[in-house]
Amino acid sequence: MKIHSKLDSLRAQIAHWRSESSRIAFVPTMGNLHDGHYSLITLAKQHADRVVASVFVNPTQFGPNEDFSRYPRTPDADVEGLREAGCDALWMPPVEVMYPMGVERAVQMRVPVITETLDGAHRPGHFDGVATVVARLFNQVQPHVAIFGRKDYQQLAVIRAMVTDLAFPIEIVGAPIIREANGLAMSSRNQYLSDEERDTASVIRRTLLAMEEGARRGDDASAIEATAVKSLQDAGFSVDYAVLRAADLTDAEVTQGAALVALIAARIGKTRLIDNHEFVV
Ligand code: PAJ
Repeated sequence: MKIHSKLDSLRAQIAHWRSESSRIAFVPTMGNLHDGHYSLITLAKQHADRVVASVFVNPTQFGPNEDFSRYPRTPDADVEGLREAGCDALWMPPVEVMYPMGVERAVQMRVPVITETLDGAHRPGHFDGVATVVARLFNQVQPHVAIFGRKDYQQLAVIRAMVTDLAFPIEIVGAPIIREANGLAMSSRNQYLSDEERDTASVIRRTLLAMEEGARRGDDASAIEATAVKSLQDAGFSVDYAVLRAADLTDAEVTQGAALVALIAARIGKTRLIDNHEFVV
């Protein structure tokens, strides 16, 4: 696996692969990789001949009071893990390469409407920062296909909106959520949890499944959401949201055959966790 930190060398590698008519898959990450990330590499290999991953902790998607500076950085372990997972190239640009004019002068993306709800409402500017860096990464790597986890359900929707609206010639693939044995969705932020908090965190998954059961019983969305908020609060969470939505994140109509998604964002101690569960009623 070749590690690139300069755009010229990345571009030369991509040009070489394209000259061989290889199909190129791309997996963007912020590093501190776990089995959830590695599952994206495995899926990428099924969609392409060559897999490029990126590790870049993107400053423009963190709010002023968020964990940018303390976000876990484990480059050596990431390189080792990616190599074992069968990744072909790793793009690790320094911040001056990603934002050559500086973050203050950087050209920015703004994706309206889909970013205004849920995590977008709780983390103002977050998804615009994600779209800004992903547009840059797409332009740098120029993949045929890019893989994103369904764990970040709204992020995947934002990326799809950007790719469709700007006509990026890139296929977007959503990958299944990988979980710990207790149901907790794997996340780099899980390592902030104490053992006790980690046990409590399994309540998120149970609550998502209970929301599906509520929908199957024919309960209305607001009753399902109220019950979910209460279960989370009783377990000790401070709840940002626990909602039932249509698959496109508009209001849910709980009718038979409807494709719905239950989404939760909740904080335990200082750690904010998100998860979701897609189902058809
Ligand atoms: P990061 O949080 O590192 O996640 C990178 C990718 O891994 C995302 O597509 C995310 O959805 C996926 N992922 C994380 N945990 C997962 C799990 N348990 N199961 C399946 N997939 C999982 O998301 C970002 O980085 C950034 O916002 C990024 C897109 C790289 C832009 O900076």
